[in-house]
Amino acid sequence: MAQAQGWFAGKSVLVTGGGSGIGRASALRFAEEGASVCIVDVQLEAAETVAAAIMASGGQAFACMADVAKEADNDRMVAEAVHRHGKLDVAFLNAGYGGWAMDALEGDVADFDRVMAINLRGCYLGLRSVARALPYGGAIVVTASAGGLMGVEFNPAYAASKHGVVGLVRSLTPTFAARGVRINALCPGGVQTPMVGALTKDLGVAPDALPQVAYGERANAEHIAELALFLASARAGAVNGSAMLADAGQTSVLVSQARRA
Ligand SMILES: NC(=O)c1ccc[n+]([C@@H]2O[C@H](COP(=O)([O-])OP(=O)(O)OC[C@H]3O[C@@H](n4cnc5c(N)ncnc54)[C@H](O)[C@@H]3O)[C@@H](O)[C@H]2O)c1
Repeated sequence: MAQAQGWFAGKSVLVTGGGSGIGRASALRFAEEGASVCIVDVQLEAAETVAAAIMASGGQAFACMADVAKEADNDRMVAEAVHRHGKLDVAFLNAGYGGWAMDALEGDVADFDRVMAINLRGCYLGLRSVARALPYGGAIVVTASAGGLMGVEFNPAYAASKHGVVGLVRSLTPTFAARGVRINALCPGGVQTPMVGALTKDLGVAPDALPQVAYGERANAEHIAELALFLASARAGAVNGSAMLADAGQTSVLVSQARRA
């Protein structure tokens, strides 16, 4: 992995949920593009494995254990990134929790609270913490979901939390703009990761050779990583306050109740 060159040469990047799936794929690619990466996860071992892989390839990374639902952990992860890498240029707030198969009306309210605490409150806390460190010209990317733009029949708490994430990103865009920081949400549809019970398989090809995802099918984590890198990079200088879909067309057309039956 080259350090002196790449889209993110000399940049310090923090990735939450970096131990698995989309966060892992993105951390690997940020490092490949020259960034020094702070890999944050509530599962320290997973983050350490990713950091070790980056270091073994000649890149710069370290693992940081943090629960994004906790305010003090968010402050600590940012402080550690600044301490270890001297600054923070990019924050990819990506950690999230699926909370699948919740019975919305009869189930335990604690399930709803947990989804909100990690996905929505965690995002809010992360934004507050990174705001103190990001310089003029910095960038924030937040992982929302296609479920942040339309409802999810079988998982309303998740969809509500991700709608909230999109609302936060859009609402805070002028505030961050006043500090010279761009903020965007990315909205994946289904992605082949442990969150949806799938094994994340590295495709092992250069970004230019990533296969096209068939209509309505799940993307690979590497597809979403490319979008995260783009949104965080100077190439996306005109993109701000957006909620960018990457769902292989899953939400492109209305499907009526009758047609589904
Ligand atoms: N996989 C999908 O189909 C899909 C679709 C749309 C959006 N997303 C979103 O993408 C993001 C990444 O998910 P993924 O699919 O890569 O899942 P994943 O399960 O592979 O990775 C999520 C990572 O987040 C970490 N994490 C969970 N709770 C945390 C907490 N409280 N503090 C710190 N880290 C925590 C987990 O330990 C894990 O390493 C999430 O925000 C998710 O909601 C996923």
